Amino acid sequence: MYKIAVIPGDGIGKEVMEATLHVLEALNVEFDYQFAEAGDEFMEKSGVALPQETVDIVKNSQACLFGAAGESAADVIVKMRQELDLYVNLRPVKSYPGTNCLFDNLDFVIVRENTEGLYIGREEYTEEGATALRVITRKASERICKFAFDYAKKTNRSKITAVHKANVLKKTDGLFKEIFYQIAEEYPDMELDDRYVDATAMFFITKPEMFDVIVTTNLFGDILSDEGAGLVGGLGLIPSANIGEKQGLFEPVHGSAPSHAGKGTANPSAMILSAVLMLDYLEEHEEARRLEESLVAVLAEGEVVTADLNGKASTMEMAREVRRKLEA
Ligand code: NAI
Ligand code: MG
Repeated sequence: MYKIAVIPGDGIGKEVMEATLHVLEALNVEFDYQFAEAGDEFMEKSGVALPQETVDIVKNSQACLFGAAGESAADVIVKMRQELDLYVNLRPVKSYPGTNCLFDNLDFVIVRENTEGLYIGREEYTEEGATALRVITRKASERICKFAFDYAKKTNRSKITAVHKANVLKKTDGLFKEIFYQIAEEYPDMELDDRYVDATAMFFITKPEMFDVIVTTNLFGDILSDEGAGLVGGLGLIPSANIGEKQGLFEPVHGSAPSHAGKGTANPSAMILSAVLMLDYLEEHEEARRLEESLVAVLAEGEVVTADLNGKASTMEMAREVRRKLEA
């Protein structure tokens, strides 16, 4: 029995969460859900977007499923990453059948450092304009590289590419690259590669099948993750994981999509695939594959899918179809 915090949030976050929980019921895994509130709607009634109570519920759980927040998303998700020290941002780039992916053979993962780099937000105005500080620490670099190697090993992947710009950022990215190769010594079976971020951005378009696991710093990872999402179809399909020492938080990349909210037209796939990432995190690999394959079957058939996939099904109809496959 796993203790799971569930934060549906705002807009379609609530709808894709309901759909996903419906599908999860058909798995051979028991969950003890702890429902918690956060986001715009909660802010309207209480004045805060992320109450301490919600943070505590997540802290006392093994993992968290998060739907989406609206305008308060930064206050909710950024704060949660800090409070829980979720130092890994994990984004799979995987082609699924029946989707608008640009390549139909992709299966790689981006492991992005989530706590430092240019996103520490230390900026200041100067006489000439403005300056931002980019911090790369040994500790954060070591733990993100170690996570990437462990993840690669656990998921039977064989190659890791460190992405950096060490030719220009000689000290910061020089250090990141040096630590990558230091950590690599503990994983002698792994194939190693390192590339400049600009060249990587090009190879995503020209030769994306060359990647297996990418490990990189915060800003580069943010940009490459969205480029990766572009390679494999729309926002309705892209899941993500935020992982720390004690918890993982699993969420679709999309937001509350106000234009779809309340209409039952949102694609539940991104949230369902976020649950697949959670199952893998909990080492329930067999159930993770079963869930993923059931969703893939529904996508491949293309009959009971939502409008963004050129179908006519509602969010719940698509979820029920996935569940039917699971129970078949
Ligand atoms: P969004 O991801 O909510 O929607 C952008 C467009 O993508 C939508 O208009 C829709 O056409 C499509 N889309 C997204 N998810 C879909 C799904 N499941 N099925 C079908 N189509 C889907 O991003 P937007 O419009 O920039 O932001 C809306 C609100 O969401 C804002 O208040 C923003 O702050 C918040 N947001 C929250 C995030 C989070 O909670 N992690 C992330 C991004 C935005
Ligand atoms: Mg982004």
